[in-house]
Amino acid sequence: MNSNKTVLISGGAGYIGSHTAVELINAGYDVVIIDNLSNSDRNAVDGVRDIVGRDIPFEVVDTCDRAALRAVFDRYAFDSVIHFAAFKAVGESVAEPLKYYQNNLVSFMNIVELMKETGRPNVLFSSSATVYGEAEVLPVTEQTPRQPATSPYGNTKQIAEDILRDCCGAYSGLNGIALRYFNPIGAHPSALIGELPRGVPNNLVPFITQTAAGIRPMLSIFGNDYDTPDGTCLRDYIDVVDLAKAHVAAVNRMVGARMESSYEIFNIGTGRPVSVLELITTFEKVNDLKLPYQYTARRAGDVPAVWADTTRANEVLGWKAERSLDDTLRAAWAWEKHIRNIK
Ligand code: UFG
Repeated sequence: MNSNKTVLISGGAGYIGSHTAVELINAGYDVVIIDNLSNSDRNAVDGVRDIVGRDIPFEVVDTCDRAALRAVFDRYAFDSVIHFAAFKAVGESVAEPLKYYQNNLVSFMNIVELMKETGRPNVLFSSSATVYGEAEVLPVTEQTPRQPATSPYGNTKQIAEDILRDCCGAYSGLNGIALRYFNPIGAHPSALIGELPRGVPNNLVPFITQTAAGIRPMLSIFGNDYDTPDGTCLRDYIDVVDLAKAHVAAVNRMVGARMESSYEIFNIGTGRPVSVLELITTFEKVNDLKLPYQYTARRAGDVPAVWADTTRANEVLGWKAERSLDDTLRAAWAWEKHIRNIK
């Protein structure tokens, strides 16, 4: 393995990590996947192997376990790390803040510290549009001020961004990119990998696909009295394969020594706001089915609207979202049917 062309992916058995592994390999990289399988399944790694048609090194490692992580750093040659491994349930983070601060921050600090210790130069961090909170001006650019986090989950994203900024500023040779994801949805067109939420889904699209599959009797739209065109919230839904390709562009930028400063931030979205109602009706249309839904009260903590200004990602990273919402929602349903054995 050529270290310059090898990427360690923490959380590589997860939803975004598995899709990113595929796109990195398609782009000519080798990958090493580590994951503690706390919210993922090793079948995802097999799905990646099936899609790319070759074996991939995979180890069950918890990134909070510094000694085990150190062993991975000693065993494999790689210059770049993409750190996906984190807890991501907003509500759970409010109920169990220590679990989130402990896991999400210790794991990231272990990664950065070992990179410094062993001279690995490039790290890419999974950040989130959640850092913008309820922005005063839409769409949000990377310069839009971050708002105080409304959940410990959101706070871990802000703190980790700050850790990365400070470390890249202080330790010469360390380069970092934070990608602020908007709302990742969809699945690989092969239907071999996709999102696998445990229990009742928190996010809209898994709830939609499970309702379509008959697992949930009714979909709830959380609020139709927002100050938006149809009264439901606006979000920027980004196809997970497009999102995975943004990671490839970011790794190319780091590996190719094209960064303008040692720490950079990019919004990763489509730039197009879509309402909850539009998403549901588009899903119904492209998959030729009807969803039972009702309007219920607003969900605590939801912002009325957020979508990305993607100019910087388009122009500086050379990346653009390509897949249509129709194709993305077809892929989401194909994946749900695949895992439920629905014809
Ligand atoms: N929604 C419903 N019904 C549902 C689920 C969601 O109406 O059953 C609505 C929400 O109210 C929201 C929209 O669908 O308006 C999208 O909700 P998601 O839960 O799918 O996504 P969020 O925008 O709330 O969450 C995303 C990321 C989080 C991140 C958060 C804050 O998934 O990681 O944005 O920016 F923290």
